[in-house]
Amino acid sequence: MNPFTKFSDWLTKACETKAIVEPTSMCLATVDENGCPSARMILLKQFDERGFCFFTNLTSRKGKELTHNQNVALCFYWGVLGRQIRIEGKVERVSLEEADEYFASRRRGSQIGAWASKQSYEMKEWSEFEERIKKISEDFRDQEIPRPPFWSGFRVIPKRIEFWEEGEFRIHKREVFERAGSGWEVKKIYP
Ligand SMILES: Cc1cc2nc3c(=O)[nH]c(=O)nc-3n(C[C@H](O)[C@H](O)[C@H](O)COP(=O)(O)O)c2cc1C
Repeated sequence: MNPFTKFSDWLTKACETKAIVEPTSMCLATVDENGCPSARMILLKQFDERGFCFFTNLTSRKGKELTHNQNVALCFYWGVLGRQIRIEGKVERVSLEEADEYFASRRRGSQIGAWASKQSYEMKEWSEFEERIKKISEDFRDQEIPRPPFWSGFRVIPKRIEFWEEGEFRIHKREVFERAGSGWEVKKIYP
């Protein structure tokens, strides 16, 4: 089986499971210029056989780290299903059209937030952020809000995808897909 088909099946199941609040949330690990990792939750917004897309501020900590080092890892965990998916690969920027299209689909408040937030930078006072939100809301009053030039998306191009399923007594199942030429090699590994 192709890992994208399996990913799609597992994600669909997670989305259908009411107890899972944010089924598309995933942990993204990046690496800084000294080789030190950092991780945070983000949302998967699109995926297909090219890879897994998310959107963010390009000047944020993760944005800067991704510009410097394109190696990343993603991890999904759906506890009530006893399932984890680990993805490793490299990021590339989505096209400007893809970024524009996704930004346009966001709610207006989120569009204003994207303009107003200097994501990951120090904020002196909360009121400073509120002022920025107010000013941006006024600047764009009665207008469509364009995508900020410092906000876009990344596509994780996977080279390894692991599917983990919880078993009784820690007898878990692990299936690993590794890219091999134009296809994928599949193997099982011990839990
Ligand atoms: C469930 C969840 C989903 C999130 N989704 C995103 C997202 O899609 N994009 C984003 O930039 N931040 C998202 N965040 C916020 C990030 O976790 C993080 O705080 C922010 O991106 C700044 O990270 P950085 O300083 O490492 O760049 C999300 C947080 C949570 C808890």
